[in-house]
Amino acid sequence: MCGIFGYIGKKSASDLLVKGLLRLEYRGYDSSGIVVKNGQLQSYKDTGKISEMASALPRLKGSMGIAHTRWATHGGVTKENAHPHVSNDGKVAIVHNGILQNSNLLRKRLTKIGVELNSETDSEIFCHFIAMELDQGKEPLEALQSVLSMVRGTWGLCVLFEDYDYVLCARNGSPLIIGRGKEEMFVSSDPHAIREHTDQLVALEDGQIAKVSARDFQVMQTDGQEVESMLLHLEEEWSESEIGDYPHFMLKEIHEQSESLQHCISGRLRHAEGTSVLGGLQIQPQNLAQLPHVRLIGCGTALHAAQIGQILIEQWARVPAVSHVASEFNANDPVINPNALHLAISQSGETADTLSAVKEIQRKGADVYGIVNVVGSSIARQCGKGVYIHSGPEQSVASTKAFTNMVGALTLFSLQLGRSRHLSKTKGKMIGREMRKLPDKIRTYLENPGPINAAVELILKAKSVLFLGRGISSPVASEGALKLMEIAYIPCLAYPAGEMKHGPIALIEENSPIVVIAPDDGVQERTLNAIHECKARGAKIILIHEEGDPISEVGDICIPVPSTIPMLTPLLTVLPTQLIAYHAALELGNDVDRPRNLAKSVTVE
Ligand code: M6R
Repeated sequence: MCGIFGYIGKKSASDLLVKGLLRLEYRGYDSSGIVVKNGQLQSYKDTGKISEMASALPRLKGSMGIAHTRWATHGGVTKENAHPHVSNDGKVAIVHNGILQNSNLLRKRLTKIGVELNSETDSEIFCHFIAMELDQGKEPLEALQSVLSMVRGTWGLCVLFEDYDYVLCARNGSPLIIGRGKEEMFVSSDPHAIREHTDQLVALEDGQIAKVSARDFQVMQTDGQEVESMLLHLEEEWSESEIGDYPHFMLKEIHEQSESLQHCISGRLRHAEGTSVLGGLQIQPQNLAQLPHVRLIGCGTALHAAQIGQILIEQWARVPAVSHVASEFNANDPVINPNALHLAISQSGETADTLSAVKEIQRKGADVYGIVNVVGSSIARQCGKGVYIHSGPEQSVASTKAFTNMVGALTLFSLQLGRSRHLSKTKGKMIGREMRKLPDKIRTYLENPGPINAAVELILKAKSVLFLGRGISSPVASEGALKLMEIAYIPCLAYPAGEMKHGPIALIEENSPIVVIAPDDGVQERTLNAIHECKARGAKIILIHEEGDPISEVGDICIPVPSTIPMLTPLLTVLPTQLIAYHAALELGNDVDRPRNLAKSVTVE
């Protein structure tokens, strides 16, 4: 939630800050602001979109500054609550991501000693306390250390001082990275916002502080002890963040799926051996043979990818596998077997619920492998092992190409796991061959996506939409429902097709739209029963099926996708559901890339 961007160098900071914020806008977009040092600290902030704030922005000179785009937690969406917050003497400005649990107490303490508070936020206390510490003759670092010892909660924090030529940053639970350029430094919540300036970055760990000047930075523990940080390299794919000719990032990212899946699988399939190799997921053969079970953990779209991974692992490797909603994981005090395999799946690598599940598993003595998109993100670093899915930057809040690559990476892993256990080479080769064809099949489908508009027209007339799928298509149904709900704000229910008759069937009225995912996968016949049960009650079926399949006879609106082997169908059947959501949201005039109330990475539990 919320995005931070900072610049310390020789160029005009204001332009770079606005550009950086625009790249981070998907992290939060209810208000934004910047502060630049030019002798004095000059700041500007407002509610609304970053572009609106930027167009009203007065000329702020200076080559050092920090900026913020907000997703409100404490305090409503007002100009006063937007960041930056500046101390009353004008000498300290801060931007903060995270939540302070003891902010009420600290606000009261400030009021009691006569400090005027200008917002309702928890964050504001930082600038006042730091200014007070400076007044008492402390150096900025000492002042920050002292304030950090008072607060409880999470922070990604940047502090700019009127009297000093550096920015102080601190991290505890909210991501911050430092990008190293040539005589210039960048600070950001996400790596892709700095990729056009530099490909070298350092990710701060929890409990660390950094002092960042134009030529250098030092990273230290909160107690001031210097630490050596590892410089990470940000690959070229992370520079692909311009919208180009597309009207929305979501549409761009839907169309990038062919290429991004290619990135995910290329170099990882081994045809001769009928297997795949995921370097970060190499497990000792003796451990593999004795693997008791696999647990996969994620939220939202990542959870749906995990549910598909669960089925693939059981099918191909014959190891019991179970997927978990990350936000529920710790609540149930799970029994952790250190010999089991644990996979944490996340696009952003910052989702607090998933990160917290990872820590719980590690605390109970097991390793966790990350299946993550964002390089150097918290989950990737906390796991310390795993694979990147190589989707490149995903900027639309509604996840599309990351889903495809999560499923792609899990498919590769299931193949690798299967081959190291019971899956035959012949079957492995066949799977590999079919996987290689997928990027082209995705492209072919997207060139001619079928009657999406007719499906949207039907959906827009309804109060709610039911999504049905069976077996490996059941998580695809859930993913389709999530997408339509989050950007079109249409109530949706996803159910395993066979379970529909145990309750949701009561919802069906004349012309109720039901999206059915029904590839020819061996369980289709029973999905057909559910279709007939729905049709008998007046429902209209939007049928997503494989090309040339006679099942199309039962659909009212039929959307064919290229055919493949059953276990790979989610990578194709999900595409029409993404387009349906996109076009429905568009028809309704919604902000497709920035749906209301949501943020791209959810860094609070
Ligand atoms: O970054 P993550 O993959 O961990 O995010 C998990 C969910 O917050 C995310 O998938 C969310 O559900 C998306 N907005 C769905 O499109």
